[in-house]
Amino acid sequence: MVRELANLAKLPSNTNLVRYFHCHLDEDGTTGGFRQPGRLYIVTEFINGDQLCSAVGTKHATETILGWAEGLFNGLAAMHAISMWHRDLHGGNVLIERTPASSALATGTDAIKVLDVGMARIQEENVPRAISIQGGAQSYFSRSRRAAQTFDDYDDVWAAACLLAELSARATIQHESTFGDAGVDFSMDFKDAERAAFVRRCGGSGSRLQELVGAVLLHPEADRDCKRAEQMKALAWSLARRGRS
Ligand SMILES: Nc1ncnc2c1ncn2[C@@H]1O[C@H](COP(=O)(O)OP(=O)(O)OP(=O)(O)O)[C@@H](O)[C@H]1O
Ligand SMILES: [Mg+2]
Repeated sequence: MVRELANLAKLPSNTNLVRYFHCHLDEDGTTGGFRQPGRLYIVTEFINGDQLCSAVGTKHATETILGWAEGLFNGLAAMHAISMWHRDLHGGNVLIERTPASSALATGTDAIKVLDVGMARIQEENVPRAISIQGGAQSYFSRSRRAAQTFDDYDDVWAAACLLAELSARATIQHESTFGDAGVDFSMDFKDAERAAFVRRCGGSGSRLQELVGAVLLHPEADRDCKRAEQMKALAWSLARRGRS
């Protein structure tokens, strides 16, 4: 929790990142009704929204997903600009804001809010390093993260692409076939054919959603340098302006 607080305090001000206001250490246990001394309260902006994972399964317009994609990569790019890697990106840690008027999910880029920086780390240098595969949502681990080899900001981009693929294909990704057949099994041995088939489910051949998620999920991982959040944001932006389905 102390790390989360330190990370929140350093979080850049960005429309796609939850805003942190202040914290309060309740030394004598008089705040709220808990009567527990030593409780630490973190105050952030309240997002009136839904977890991204609960939007998987519903049909969303291509334009909507591309707008959310731009927002997601924009938030990540702002974090990455200070060498902060989120490391725990999954559908419960991204909220989609609701519109106050209709309470439907807002469709613009600003609707996306990345939260939960409890596992995030700021690196002194933005160079890949090995991390343990303990912790984090394994379904969204890149091949090298699964092998506990290299890890860097690219792994957040990978996880973001997985979330966008789930929205586009209307199916969830899971990492063990024993989870049943409700979702798509990326399984720990990471079969290329399964991944390619999943990307095809994101839209017909040559579709913009397929191009977006394929740019990360089908890209040779050895070339980590070429897919950064800033570049993916630009890709989502340009695809949104290209008038194809
Ligand atoms: N600022 C916020 N506004 C609205 N809802 C929020 C906010 N922060 C968190 N939530 C809700 O609470 C849930 C848990 O928050 P968060 O992910 O920060 O905590 P956590 O301790 O990591 O929980 P979990 O283990 O479920 O991820 C989020 O998925 C979201 O639904
Ligand atoms: Mg969380």
